Amino acid sequence: MALEKEINQENIAKLMDIFYAKVRKDPQLSTVFIPAVGEDNESWEKHKEKIGRFWRQMLLGEPVFDGQPLKKHLELPPFPREFFSTWLQLFEDSLKMIYEENVASSILMRAQMIAQRFQVAIYDMQIH
Ligand code: HEM
Repeated sequence: MALEKEINQENIAKLMDIFYAKVRKDPQLSTVFIPAVGEDNESWEKHKEKIGRFWRQMLLGEPVFDGQPLKKHLELPPFPREFFSTWLQLFEDSLKMIYEENVASSILMRAQMIAQRFQVAIYDMQIH
């Protein structure tokens, strides 16, 4: 399979499938995701559609996402900061399965910046 040079709705959906399959199987991340998202495939399909819209808005500028990511993460039951490294590692592995190197690294950079902001809000600011 040739690696993608361009980001589009179709390959974002593929990224969601690959990434969240890893998340669901991951011994750390699944302990946070399963209680919040659910056990069944239907709930995961909905989650992937929502996060797919988040990335379409971020990467393609399509105004299709209407969530509150920071608020949602602040409201999750506490989990160790190290989980963010695992999240980013699985995301990077997934990106590399789909996109050419420079495309993969530009998306990864966006994810790293968001992950950084989430971590500052969750762990460094004493707001909850
Ligand atoms: C260890 C790291 C992370 C964990 C454990 C985590 C976990 C979760 C969970 C459980 C939800 C579902 C919440 C719900 O529907 O009740 C969620 C939603 C979401 N996550 Fe994460 N997440 C992490 C990192 C990230 C990062 C780095 C990004 C973006 C780059 C991200 C983007 C989102 C978005 C867009 C939503 C939807 C928010 C909404 O519904 O408004 N997450 N996350």
